Amino acid sequence: RIYSRIAGTGSYLPEKVLTNDDLAKFVDTSDEWIASRTGIRERHVAAEGETTSDLSVHAATRAMEAAGVSAADLDLIIVGTTTPDIIFPSTACLLQARLGANGCGAFDVNAACSGFLYALSIGDKFIRSGDAKTVLVVGAETLTRMVDWSERTTAVLFGDGAGAVVLKADSETGILSTHLHADGAKKELLWNPVGVSAGFRDDQPNAGVRIQMAGSDVFKYAVKALDSVVEETLEANGLDRHDIDWLIPHQANLRIIEATAKRLDMSMDRVIVTVDKHGNTSSGSVPLALDEAVRSGRVQRGQLLLLEAFGGGFTWGSALLRY
Ligand code: ACO
Repeated sequence: RIYSRIAGTGSYLPEKVLTNDDLAKFVDTSDEWIASRTGIRERHVAAEGETTSDLSVHAATRAMEAAGVSAADLDLIIVGTTTPDIIFPSTACLLQARLGANGCGAFDVNAACSGFLYALSIGDKFIRSGDAKTVLVVGAETLTRMVDWSERTTAVLFGDGAGAVVLKADSETGILSTHLHADGAKKELLWNPVGVSAGFRDDQPNAGVRIQMAGSDVFKYAVKALDSVVEETLEANGLDRHDIDWLIPHQANLRIIEATAKRLDMSMDRVIVTVDKHGNTSSGSVPLALDEAVRSGRVQRGQLLLLEAFGGGFTWGSALLRY
C-alpha cells in the first residue's frame, strides 16, 4: 500500500503587524474586548501590492527545503485559498511559474477556512492512487483585502499568512484519514456575496468585496461541526480520544479551540495555538500552526496529529496523520 507522508513544512507571515491597540485607533474596539472574546492580540497584514502568491512562494520554498525536494520533483501543486491574486490563472499556476515547476498539474481549492484541509485531502488521494509521488499543498490568504475596516464585528478577526507542506509517497503510514463536509444551505451566515458571475456592487466600497458574518451563529455551528468531525475521525480509525498527541486546529477563536480540546479531554498544552499572534488566516491557519509546532520542536516524528477546520460555506473537515 502507498501512503502520503508530510516530508516538510514551511510558512510565511507578512512583515507588518497590526496589534489590537493599533486597530482601536480607527475602529470602536479595545484590546480587552478582542482578546477576551477571541484570544487574538495581533495579526499580520500584507503590504500594498503583496499578494497571496507572494506569501505562498516563501512558505512553499521553506517546505520544499525542509523536505529536500526541488521544483522538478513536484507532480502536483494545490493551493487552498479564498483570496486568489487574480480571477485566473489560479494562484497555484502563478506559484508554479515562480517555483519553476513547469509542467506539473496545478489548481486552487476554495473552501474558505477549510481550504487547506480540502487541499491536503486531495493531495493525499493523488498519492494513494499512485498518480503522484510528490505533492505541494499550500494554504494561503490575504484575507485582510476582504475586510471592511470600518466594521468592528469582522475587522478585528482576520490576518494574512501562508503555510505549506510537501507530501511524499511512502510505504509507511502518514495521513491515516481525511474527512470533508459542507452545508451550502447556511451560506448567508458567513460569506462575501459578490463576484464575476453574480456581479460586483458599484454602490458599495471596495465593489462590495467584504466579509459578512453572523458571528454568534457561526460560533455555535463551528463548535458542533468540529465536535462531530472529531468523533467521526476517531471512530474511523478505531482510536480513543486520549491517543492523539497534538491537536492542530483552525485558528479562528480561542474559545472554539478550547471547546474542541475539551471534547477530546486534552489539556491546552497539547493544542497548538497561534490565533493570539496570527488572527484568523483562513486557509493559512492550520499549516502555519503545524509549521510553528514542527520548527519549535513540539511536534516530533511518529506522533499522532489531529488537524481540523471550519469555515464559510459552511465547510469543515479533519485529517488524522502520523507525522
Ligand atoms: N469591539 C467591541 N465591541 C464589539 C466588537 C468589537 N470588535 N464587535 C462586536 N462588539 C459588540 C457588539 O456590537 C455587541 O454589542 P451589543 O451587545 O451592545 O449589541 C457585543 O459586542 C457582543 O457581540 P457578539 O457578536 O454577540 O459577540 P460574540 O461574543 O458572539 O463574539 C465573535 C463575536 C468573536 C465574532 C464570535 O462570535 C466568533 O468568534 N464567532 C466565530 C467566528 C468564526 O469562527 N468564523 C469561522 C471561520 S471564518 C471564515 O471561514 C472566513
